Amino acid sequence: MPEIAKLILNGNTYELPVVEGTEQEKAIDIGPLRDLTGYITLDYGYKNTGATSSAITFLDGENGILHYRGYPIEQLAEKSSFLEVAYLLVYGELPTTEQFANFEKDIRNHTLVHEDFRKILDGFPASAHPMGVMASMVCSLTAFYPESISNRSPEMIELTILRLLAKMPTFVAWAYKHSIGHPVNYPQNKLDYCSNFLHMMFGLPTEEYAINPEIVRALNILLILHADHEQNCSASTVRMVGSSKASLYSSVSAGINALWGPLHGGANQEVIEMLEAIKADGGNTQKWIEKAKDKNDPFRLMGFGHRVYKNFDPRAKIIKKTCDTVLANLGINDPVLTIAKELEEAALNDEYFISRKLYPNVDFYSGIIYRALGIPTDMFTVMFALGRLPGWIAQWKEMNENKEPIGRPRQVYTGPTERPYTPMNER
Ligand code: SDX
Repeated sequence: MPEIAKLILNGNTYELPVVEGTEQEKAIDIGPLRDLTGYITLDYGYKNTGATSSAITFLDGENGILHYRGYPIEQLAEKSSFLEVAYLLVYGELPTTEQFANFEKDIRNHTLVHEDFRKILDGFPASAHPMGVMASMVCSLTAFYPESISNRSPEMIELTILRLLAKMPTFVAWAYKHSIGHPVNYPQNKLDYCSNFLHMMFGLPTEEYAINPEIVRALNILLILHADHEQNCSASTVRMVGSSKASLYSSVSAGINALWGPLHGGANQEVIEMLEAIKADGGNTQKWIEKAKDKNDPFRLMGFGHRVYKNFDPRAKIIKKTCDTVLANLGINDPVLTIAKELEEAALNDEYFISRKLYPNVDFYSGIIYRALGIPTDMFTVMFALGRLPGWIAQWKEMNENKEPIGRPRQVYTGPTERPYTPMNER
């Protein structure tokens, strides 16, 4: 007998169907609600509202579980590569040897960007925040590939996906080089995805760039851990923009802007700035814990708390472990890592954080690794975007394949009721 939800309104009883996901999570389907009752629901920030059904990523916030297409994040971080995880998220299955070889070849054939992108880049001051540069560069792809705007054939969508996955590392590296006044590096297609990115980021025309396998491995793990996270703010943005049949490029550009916010992807940059401020302030972690608890103080413990995880963010656990390994292998002793661990220890034993189930999230330790890899702080959120790209693409592709309707939420109106226009000299 299918489960139903009963709603009693003004003495009437209404029945609404209950849907159940493959991991036994349940939802009340309120599709018929307004037609049945004339009522809508209200849920600020969609804390209780599912906007869609999806087969891409499953996360269980209470138990700290994260799966991409059913595969546990711990196993993917340990055994897979970022490009293989990108294939998994976008196409739904782990590739065979032949499928991956073809995929990698296709990606390599699209890493170069139109030379005019250098003119676009030159239009930005070196001080421009790279997230703004990235959002502009990605949206500018519609100018160089106008057929991507209206041609929605499977072949065109596949080509658009490959172009975006292939060119994003080039954009990221070029944005960085522009910000430091260095010449850009062109992709080297003999290199794998992450090695190619590192070479474009840190290679110099004056010397051979030595690929460090430790750094390549750490980067693969970081990007895998950021690759998707179901209906987070930026993925929901990509789906919302894409639901109007906007192109993948403009939808992802919108997602980059959503990720930029300090409460979302921008938190990784804020975490390092917070840790540096605590270090400069003498390292008194308890003082900053008290600030975070003080309702009159706007300061929040950045990298702590999560809308869904009310237990440890499984990604934070892996990143923390990777942090120790990378810094040890690179012989780096970063004092902010010590501060971060003290801060974590203090918060996890403080009633304020315990009662609100606030734990370290993906952003708490990631910046320390990025810094160890030589990536500057204002590029941290761009690195998050590079990692999240396959997830955004997968979400956009799924929404299109499921032919979902244009997103258009309702509202409860609280403004003035009808009133007549008054001439200005009578106001
Ligand atoms: C990401 O959604 C995703 O999946 C996102 C992400 C992904 O992979 O896409 O996981 C990536 O965005 C991670 C989150 C990065 N952001 C931060 O680290 C910023 C700091 N964290 C918070 O601002 C906050 O925890 C959010 C935004 C992450 C979640 O906010 P919610 O779910 O809306 O919770 P809330 O703001 O309503 O907070 C509930 C309570 C409040 O106190 P009370 O009003 O109950 O007294 O917890 C407090 C908040 O003041 N609180 C914090 C806190 N986070 C929440 N207090 C101090 N420090 C914090 N970090």
